[in-house]
Amino acid sequence: MNIILLGPPGAGKGTQANRLVEERGMVQLSTGDMLRAAVKASTPLGLKAKAVMDRGELVSDEIVSELIDAELTAMDAGTGAIFDGYPRTRAQAERLDELLDKHGRKLDRVIELEVDEDALVDRITGRFTCGNCGAGYHDRYNLPQVEGVCDRCGSTEFKRRPDDTEETVRTRMQEYRAKTAPILPYYEERGIVSRVDGMASIDEVADKIDALLS
Ligand code: AP5
Repeated sequence: MNIILLGPPGAGKGTQANRLVEERGMVQLSTGDMLRAAVKASTPLGLKAKAVMDRGELVSDEIVSELIDAELTAMDAGTGAIFDGYPRTRAQAERLDELLDKHGRKLDRVIELEVDEDALVDRITGRFTCGNCGAGYHDRYNLPQVEGVCDRCGSTEFKRRPDDTEETVRTRMQEYRAKTAPILPYYEERGIVSRVDGMASIDEVADKIDALLS
């Protein structure tokens, strides 16, 4: 199964993708994570992308589509893909169709997480992740079971994203409204879009997504 998780910053795409990876053995293809890895490794691509990401704007369609192509090439053909944060523009959506064709895959479902924008700043500015395994947490909504210790790997190192400031989040939301939300009709025409209330609890959202994929 190949699915797209769509929604504004902080909607819960990464949270739900992580769970699907653990429970269904799917592979999460997050262009945000790929770009952050390139920034961390100071590759030429990472150096180019860093300033754009820090401003909350979109990196070029060509760069992110190449990253996705490389990941699909490396993946086992029978493993399901979760596209998290890609596509984000009409050009990326069209390119994804070409890439799916090239890799012999079919898009099964686009799941839009619907959220109240006022809650997103709160979600994003409270977010932190394990510095070792990347497990995601939140200061209020999703704390580790033992304070200061990652549930998944036991690490005590945590980090926050540099683009998780209120100002940058607002730019990221504008980018979503202007460039990403308008791609929904492209998929609606095919009857593969489902909407899930992303304001429900993490477990409730997970149950709704499971019901859609069963
Ligand atoms: P990216 O990394 O994709 O960031 P984003 O889309 O802004 O999404 P986030 O990761 O911020 O949010 P999320 O929906 O995954 O929420 P999460 O699950 O963490 O992109 C970063 C940047 O890279 C972009 O700005 C752009 O510059 C560049 N980029 C990436 N892809 C690109 C592309 N295709 N084209 C061009 N540029 C690209 O949840 C947030 C918090 O809320 C967490 O703390 C979580 O614990 C909590 N939470 C989650 N669900 C719930 C819930 N139901 N109730 C309560 N709390 C919840």
